[in-house]
Amino acid sequence: MLRVGIIGCGAIGTVLAEAMCKGDAGSAELATVYDADGGKAEGLRKSLGKEFSVASSISELLAERLDLVVEAASQEAVRQYGEHVLESGRHLMIMSVGALLDESLRERLMKAAKKSGAMIYIPTGAAIAIDALKAANVGKLKSVTLTTRKPPAALGIKGKLKAAKVIYRGSAEEAVRRYPQNINVAATISIAGIGGKKTKVMIIADPKASRNMHELEVKGDFGQFIAKIENVPSPKNPKTSYMAALSAIRLLRSLTEVLKVGT
Ligand SMILES: NC(=O)c1ccc[n+]([C@@H]2O[C@H](COP(=O)([O-])OP(=O)(O)OC[C@H]3O[C@@H](n4cnc5c(N)ncnc54)[C@H](O)[C@@H]3O)[C@@H](O)[C@H]2O)c1
Repeated sequence: MLRVGIIGCGAIGTVLAEAMCKGDAGSAELATVYDADGGKAEGLRKSLGKEFSVASSISELLAERLDLVVEAASQEAVRQYGEHVLESGRHLMIMSVGALLDESLRERLMKAAKKSGAMIYIPTGAAIAIDALKAANVGKLKSVTLTTRKPPAALGIKGKLKAAKVIYRGSAEEAVRRYPQNINVAATISIAGIGGKKTKVMIIADPKASRNMHELEVKGDFGQFIAKIENVPSPKNPKTSYMAALSAIRLLRSLTEVLKVGT
């Protein structure tokens, strides 16, 4: 049994909580939830009608008997609570991966984890082919390029665009800074591959797109691959792909499975 606490009761946190309450997340069991907006946490408990507590602070959350904390809130939440969670010896699953492109924060979290023996988990999320990228990275990588195409609203663009427009071209590191709620995929790919400075990103706002699309092109000693995914936006938050929550559920299952498949 893996006892889990969730920080953030929005689109991802809700799907994860539902999965655990239905028994769809392997032997992960929801113990407690916390949200800066207490109404959201209470609302989640009411809607699920299950036995888990609602914490009114991180200290209260960590006072529970827990093995793992899932951050499904914001980059700010990773900065605010990450070290605290890891220092307490609880494993931490991070959804707001963009925060980890800040090297000093990443170092601090890794230091806290090493000291307590806790692990930091980053699910594939809305990204793709992270297993192939990691394997390719054992050899030499020549280039990693991500092209993201989303409906303008999902990129925070108000008003109507007549045609598809490239709104960003540059490093993953800068992309994450400019589009913090949209580009966790770039951060995950950077961490699995050649880092935020060398990973190239292009972001396209496309009025014809109804899905969040990512195309990953990787070249290296192994040869090359192109992987493409068309993600359905989550009904509760158009900036978030439904796949991100599914991937987190899958990681929860993997943590307690005997047979593990994939790199
Ligand atoms: N890894 C991926 O592939 C991926 C994909 C999509 C989204 N995300 C990220 O996951 C996170 C959650 O996404 P979502 O769609 O569920 O967001 P959401 O906006 O639907 O919900 C976030 C919830 O967290 C709460 N929250 C925010 N900051 C907080 C803080 N500092 N302390 C406590 N509570 C806080 C909010 O009140 C809200 O209820 C976001 O940062 C998002 O960018 C990651």
